[in-house]
Amino acid sequence: MSGASRIQCAALRGKIMTAEEAAQLIPSGVNVGMSGFTGAGYPKVVPSALAKRIMDANLYGKKFKIGVWTGASTAPDLDGALAMVDGIEMRLPYQSDPTCRKRINAGEMEYIDIHLSHVAQFVWSGFLGKLDIAVVEVAGILEDGRLIPSSSVGNNKTWLDQADKVILEVNSWQNPDLEGMHDIYYGTQLPPNRQPIPLTRAHDRIGEPYLRCDPKKVIAVVETHSPDRNSAFAAPDENSRKIAGHILEFLEHEVKKGRLPANLLPLQSGVGNIANAVMGGLNQGPFENLTAYTEVLQDGMLEMIKSGKLTCASATAFSLSSGALAELNTDLARFKDSIILRPQEISNHPEVIRRLGVIAMNGMIEADIYGNVNSTHVMGTKIMNGIGGSGDFARNAYISIFMTPSQAKGGEISCIVPMASHVDHTEHDVQILVTEQGLADLRGLSPKQRAKAIIEHCAHPHFKPALSDYYKRALDHSPGKQTPHLLEEALSWHVRYLRNGSMSPS
Ligand code: COA
Repeated sequence: MSGASRIQCAALRGKIMTAEEAAQLIPSGVNVGMSGFTGAGYPKVVPSALAKRIMDANLYGKKFKIGVWTGASTAPDLDGALAMVDGIEMRLPYQSDPTCRKRINAGEMEYIDIHLSHVAQFVWSGFLGKLDIAVVEVAGILEDGRLIPSSSVGNNKTWLDQADKVILEVNSWQNPDLEGMHDIYYGTQLPPNRQPIPLTRAHDRIGEPYLRCDPKKVIAVVETHSPDRNSAFAAPDENSRKIAGHILEFLEHEVKKGRLPANLLPLQSGVGNIANAVMGGLNQGPFENLTAYTEVLQDGMLEMIKSGKLTCASATAFSLSSGALAELNTDLARFKDSIILRPQEISNHPEVIRRLGVIAMNGMIEADIYGNVNSTHVMGTKIMNGIGGSGDFARNAYISIFMTPSQAKGGEISCIVPMASHVDHTEHDVQILVTEQGLADLRGLSPKQRAKAIIEHCAHPHFKPALSDYYKRALDHSPGKQTPHLLEEALSWHVRYLRNGSMSPS
């Protein structure tokens, strides 16, 4: 399909211009809502043209910065390009770009790490200030101006609704068969007018396939033909396979106990290599007719759809390696009944997640012996990516699982520590902890019982004696015995690593 045939609306055809011309319409100091969720559906050319403009301004000694709001992380030609020229004043709600990370951790860029389900309502309520401009990639424009969404939905509905001005990138690389795959729900309201979301099964469609957009707000239409860019996943290693094995065994046990149906409950699988590997494990496992109510659809989940293990996946974005994406695009129409892409305020909606009884599986950086989980901050101060949707799912899931290898950085760091150096998910939201060493089922356990289970089942043997020793001394000397700690010593593991490059006590 040629670029022009993707733009059926005559009024919007009249607004076609180059990326450079469109970038001229974005002044310094504005907040820009960009499409994009992982490397899918982000605007491919306007951000780079804007970065060039910012670089030119900087050469003349002029400061030029904007606020960048997205669905979640994007790709090097959006986050990377703008961060490279120091063009981002404030970034939200999630990123995973190395240059952004560097600038945030150097104190050169402000970053609000925010639950992904909160973003839309924060914007509608005006908590984040004014959204000036939306830059949104779409797969096409209908005659009446409605938009065919791209490979991610994210916050696009909110951006198009709330921004004063809209720039559309129409990407003819996106598969025309995306049309009809989306479910855009327009029934969300702010309190006190909020109504129940009428979604009772992962495969329910409750909205419409198109995004609405007032053509009068559109100030530019830019044609592109450019692929999504997601990084490849690491092949599952021994640790990921063991983690997947423990989770499978646990799920089988829950089915035997009658606490889960034979086809489980809708699965949510987080970002990262481990989460992807667990899906690989499930694909080899005994469960059939599975469903997913999740945020991103990664390679592992696509494999499960192809194998027939997964009958339906509801998400807000594809997050596929280039190989998996190429394969999907050769046969996308086949998946129209089994894949639904929704706005992230629905894919991550606490009410829906609680109602469906989602089984949430997310990666983490570290957990402490009581089950508090740090998903975001290395050594308590440096951001890795962000909380993303992990909090939306963990708090509201039927079963909330967090997983990590027991050690990081070649064994110098224990991912089980006395006290988490930053907490994203409190002990109350963490039911199952898994490392390659084993699985700790924390449901129904008191803090002291949790500590014993976590040290016994999840800690690496190299760090187990030191953790047991800390816990024993805390039991003896902590002023309070509900959650025993030796406060002066609690974070000494992290301090030891920062000083010596190793958490090892010797
Ligand atoms: N201390 C220091 N660094 C650590 C660490 C620790 N305790 N644990 C992991 N790391 C480092 C790893 O060394 C690796 O660094 P590298 O890229 O320099 O090699 C990096 O963190 C990623 O670790 P990895 O083991 O490959 O895990 P992952 O790809 O599964 O990602 C998270 C783990 C926590 C970073 C990732 O899951 C995340 O960002 N989670 C938060 C958002 C989220 O859960 N979203 C899903 C919601 S739907």
